[in-house]
Amino acid sequence: MCLRAIIYNRSRIPDPAGSDGSVAQSLIKAVRGTRDLLPPDTDTWNFVDAAARDCFRVYNFHEIRTPILEDLALFQRSVGEETDIVAKEMFAWEDRARAESEKGQWLALRPENTAGVVRAYIEHKLWERPGLQKLFYIGPQFRRERPQKGRYRQFYQIGAEIIGPPSSGSESPARDAEVLDMLAALLDRLGIEHVSLQLNSVGDPEDRRQYNVRLREALEPVAGQMCTDCRRRAVTNPLRVLDCKVPADQPIIGSLPRISDHLGPAAREHFEGLQRILQRLEIPYSINARLVRGLDYYVRTVFEFTHGALGAQNAILGGGRYDGLSEALGGPRSPGIGFAIGEDRLVMALAEAGAATARAPDVFIAPLGPGMNAEAARLAHELRRHDLIVETGDDSFRLKKLLETAARLGAHYAVIVGEDELATGQLALKDLSSGEQRQVPREELAARIIKN
Ligand code: HAM
Repeated sequence: MCLRAIIYNRSRIPDPAGSDGSVAQSLIKAVRGTRDLLPPDTDTWNFVDAAARDCFRVYNFHEIRTPILEDLALFQRSVGEETDIVAKEMFAWEDRARAESEKGQWLALRPENTAGVVRAYIEHKLWERPGLQKLFYIGPQFRRERPQKGRYRQFYQIGAEIIGPPSSGSESPARDAEVLDMLAALLDRLGIEHVSLQLNSVGDPEDRRQYNVRLREALEPVAGQMCTDCRRRAVTNPLRVLDCKVPADQPIIGSLPRISDHLGPAAREHFEGLQRILQRLEIPYSINARLVRGLDYYVRTVFEFTHGALGAQNAILGGGRYDGLSEALGGPRSPGIGFAIGEDRLVMALAEAGAATARAPDVFIAPLGPGMNAEAARLAHELRRHDLIVETGDDSFRLKKLLETAARLGAHYAVIVGEDELATGQLALKDLSSGEQRQVPREELAARIIKN
């Protein structure tokens, strides 16, 4: 097993106080490849999450939450031992045994969520429930990759899976089309442009077996001229050679046999069926004969959406069919299809497009004296009941400073609360973009702010 293990061993844990007992003074920073998401960026993340949840609702998907920590064997048996994800990128370790006589269990931080969803589907016998299981998830995933723009060791996926026994229609190309239609709708709703849907079929397992034989034959005379990874893959998992991004290898890869010429009748018919529905739905796509995806569980349909402005890490999402995965994990036959969006990349694409998603207060309340704090609190309480976003001023009680703060926060309005205002029941409402100020009866304040 070529996994880098972190063995939990107390004797090897460093003392945070340092060897001489003095408390270390150096700052502790976020771990390489991980990052803090801070406001206002988190407003964009919440905006994306909310749009995705809305979309999932109208396509009748329900949420599933699986643990971040799973048995390592789950990923070995699903994603595949020879894939980069499992062979090189897992955060995995042998957990302490519960008793001296026992062996520790190998655990892993999930590198993706499809395997966990299918494990839960089997563990909770979800196939016994009526119809299809249409499940979505939003959460962190972990891969020990070399960090760069758009590639992190902790990243976030928004994903969805449709899975069920064959009698539920889970094998139909209509399901592939439904998933692609939902994705197109979500990207459209978010205003993401310059995306292109790349589509391919990797055939059924028997088609792939035959194709692998052809690929091995074709690679034998040329593998020696390729990168180290390709030389290894040419023997262990030749399909992975097609994923190689090394520029010098591309001419050789371009000359290799194509999987589209090795599809059996069932896979071919399925792929044509999907394309007919996509055309009817007017979803643009292009066939990419080299798209095979970096996970072993795929059969038939595979796809990626790429984005023009994201540079090297341009796959904004990826997915495909995994009809044999449930059986490979000891469950009943349950074809499935799904996808995962890289939320970090989606948020980046939104930022590139200059989308305004940051949330600002609707109204800032400026109290003009210590005695006005209670009134300001009361007014804030009332306005928030009307679903308005309200911020209250500090204890400077100086109008100029308070209005400057309101402008810095991007508030749309300021309301001034002073002795005179209270006495007359008329509050001063200032529109901070036009500078216009008018007296508004207290009971009309919320309606006036909402109207504008
Ligand atoms: P995947 O292609 O490995 O597929 O990942 C899906 C997406 O996650 C990628 O297109 C990318 O946007 C994002 N992603 C992957 N690695 C990183 C990283 N290190 N940093 C930032 N973003 C990243 C899967 O994970 C499958 N489970 C998808 C699926 C669901 N297939 C069927 N159902």
